[in-house]
Parts: sequence; C-alpha cells; structure tokens
Amino acid sequence: MKEIAVIGLGYIGLPTAIMFANAGFRVTGYEIREDVVRSINSGKAHIIEPEIDELLKKAVSSGNLRATSDPEEIRNKDAYIICVQTPLKEDKTPDLSYLESAVRTVAERMKKGSLVVIESTVPPLTTVKMAKLIEEIRGFKAGEDFYMVHAPERVMPGRIFKELVYNSRIFGGITPESSEIAEKLYRSFVKGQTFKTSSTVSEVVKLMENTFRDVNIALANEFAFLAHQYGVNVFEAIELANTHPRVNIHLPGIGVGGHCLPKDPHLLLWPAKEDFGLIRTAREINDSMPLFTKDLLFSAFKQLNVPPEEAVVAVLGLAYKGNSDDTRNSPAIAFIDAIKDDVREVRSYDPFVGGSAESLEEALRGADAAVIATDHTAFKNLNWEELGKLMRTKILIDGRHIIDKPPRGFLFKGIGRGEY
Ligand SMILES: NC(=O)c1ccc[n+]([C@@H]2O[C@H](COP(=O)([O-])OP(=O)(O)OC[C@H]3O[C@@H](n4cnc5c(N)ncnc54)[C@H](O)[C@@H]3O)[C@@H](O)[C@H]2O)c1
Repeated sequence: MKEIAVIGLGYIGLPTAIMFANAGFRVTGYEIREDVVRSINSGKAHIIEPEIDELLKKAVSSGNLRATSDPEEIRNKDAYIICVQTPLKEDKTPDLSYLESAVRTVAERMKKGSLVVIESTVPPLTTVKMAKLIEEIRGFKAGEDFYMVHAPERVMPGRIFKELVYNSRIFGGITPESSEIAEKLYRSFVKGQTFKTSSTVSEVVKLMENTFRDVNIALANEFAFLAHQYGVNVFEAIELANTHPRVNIHLPGIGVGGHCLPKDPHLLLWPAKEDFGLIRTAREINDSMPLFTKDLLFSAFKQLNVPPEEAVVAVLGLAYKGNSDDTRNSPAIAFIDAIKDDVREVRSYDPFVGGSAESLEEALRGADAAVIATDHTAFKNLNWEELGKLMRTKILIDGRHIIDKPPRGFLFKGIGRGEY
C-alpha cells in the first residue's frame, strides 16, 4: 500500500494523517472545512497538541501530506481512513450523518481491493451497515472486492503522538483478512500490541472502555456527595481506597466533557432493544455535576449574605480538560448556562480558549466568587491571597481539585471537600 486518504482532519484525523505521511505513505487528507485545508497545507495545525506543528511541517514539506476539499483527489486510493465526528443529536441519539456522507464519498471513488477503515467511534453494528452501503453504491462485494475494518482510536488529547505509537490497537474486520490487512498497514508506526477481532466486537470494546470510565466517575461523584454529608475529604478517602490492590476509583469533579465520554455510553445503548439503568443513571449523575457546583456556589453566597442577583462570578476555564482548547460538551459551559440567569454577571477566562475577560486579573476584578472549572496548569499554584485583593467578596469554588490548601481569607468550597 502506498496511497492513503484520511477523511476528516480533526483531533484524530490530522495526527493520524501526519503519522502515515511521516512513515512514508502518500497521504491525501480530505476535509470539508476549507479553512482547515488551507491551514494544514501552509504547515500550521488548527488544533493545539504537543509536537503537532513540527510533525505537520515535516509531513507537508516532504510532499507526503496534502489536504484538499475536492473529493476527486481521493480517487483510487489503496486505503481510506475515516475519522469524522459522530456526535449526539439534541435527543441524545447518534448523529451518523457525517459518517454516512464520508462513506458515500469514499464508496463513489474507491477501487477494487481498497481497504476502508472506520476510526470514528460508532454504535455497535455500524461498520457492517456501512459495508452494506458501499456494496449498494458500488456493487462491490465486502470482504472480496474491498476490505473493511473498525479500528477505534484510544488516544488522549495532550499525549496523542506518543499514544498513537505506543497504545495497543484493535482491528475489527468484517472478515479476518480485512483485520490482517489493516494491522499490517498500522504496524508501519504502531509499536504497541495489536489485536484482531470482528468489527462488532471492536465497536463494543471501544464503547465499553469509555462507559467504564464514565460509570466510574459517576461513582466517584456519588462518593463526593456522601463525603459532603460526613464532612470527609473524598480525595483523601479515594487515595486511601486506591491503595487496595484491586480498587481504582476515578476522581469527582464539575462534570464530564469532551467529544467522547458524554456520548459513548449513549452510542453503546442506542441499538439495544432494552437497557438496564446503570449506564443511564451514571450519565445523569455526571450531567448533574454543574448543578451541584451551582449549589456549592449558592450556599457560599448565603453564608456571606451575597444576594445572588447582585453577584459577579468569574469562571476560570472553558475547555473540558486541562491545557486543551477543546470546549465540546464542556461542563464549564453547562455551569455558566446553569447560573447565568440567577446572577448579575458571569465572566470567563481561559488561557487556551479566550473568554469574556482577557486576563485572570480582569476576570477577578470586583468579582464575588471565582469558580475553577478547568484544571489548566496556569490555574495551579496561583497566589490567591494576592488575587483576592482584586475581588469584592472572597469566595473560591474548586471544581477540579487543584487547590491543596484553602487560601486564607476566602470562603473555600470544593467538590468532595467535606463541607457543603
Ligand atoms: N478527540 C478525541 O480525543 C477522540 C478519541 C478517541 C476517539 N475519538 C473519535 O474519533 C472521531 C473523530 O473525533 P475528532 O475529535 O477528531 O472530531 P473532529 O470534529 O475534531 O474532526 C472531525 C473532522 O471531520 C470533518 N468532516 C466531517 N464530515 C466530513 C466529511 N463527510 N468529509 C470530510 N470531512 C468531514 C470535520 O469538518 C472535522 O474537521 C469521533 O468519532 C470520536 O468519537 C475521538
């Protein structure tokens, strides 16, 4: 295989295209957003990720990576790697329109013998359905005239280029030969273990992984609610519980965001004829955390006799995770939505995303409360005693457990930190 097309150049597709290009393949990145295509072809990444700019420059200047919005440029490739988004609709059912449109674009232009890989996270049975769609459009026979695989991505933003190489990977083929061909292709840069299975097992595995994490976080959040009742610091309790050799409790916080964890449990449940409650309850608990954070804030207002309708609140962080500019499903935004009609003013500051204030100081000047919503490194080890001088009322709410010792002179509350 020499010629690869990567469809969708976002957080997953762009790094994947770069890895294949730098491993010596000729890669055409097909992306519907023309601004993204322009930026990539000029050697500038449109997403923030360590090492991405050097690696992208290398891929583009070697001539091995070119982005395009013209679907005709992905005709007759040896392999197609689909990395488009698979979000939820308003009603929490999957929106597979991006995936279907990408599969149609590929089906109309692939050749006999092409490999089609779906890296996007998809509901169980989707890869088999997409293979049927290609059969209908092209009259090719899946497994004979073309090969098709689900190869889920497990990388974590912030560590993508390391994890692309060292994570273990699963290749779920619609036939064993499909899995083998995909495994061989990815071995050009993957040094982690590789496993071959069916496409439906692979889809379920990916969704189980993120559902496990979501349910674990929901349990940690419920432990945090209980810890408030007993005046216990849940982080101390979790650290001690995790010294048990078979216990691994995740951490509670203001909520679960990003493009994956809040959506993947819904994808797992969607095609099932019935579901059994636990996974949905966990989702509800995690979705309720911005409201729990609001309760902490409003109980602080009450303690200090601050009328909420006169309060100015500074929200520190808009991204869903630390040192990232990704705001998809961010609990910081859900928190702002939850309070904005009940207070006088909400300001936000995020060093990666922007926000209504240009600096931390501007956000805090005259504010009645600061709420830490994202664990950016820039928010750790701040001199709160100095920053407090800018504020009208010194309330500090830690939604991410980044403050070790409550600063002097503040009314401090943290999720799971004992006091309610
Ligand atoms: N972001 C992560 O950390 C992560 C981790 C593991 C798995 N995933 C999964 O990978 C998939 C992609 O996620 P992402 O974060 O990279 O999404 P993204 O939104 O960053 O990127 C998707 C890109 O595809 C483009 N696109 C959409 N439809 C297209 C089409 N028909 N043709 C060409 N381009 C098209 C979009 O314009 C966008 O640039 C999702 O299914 C996600 O669940 C993401």
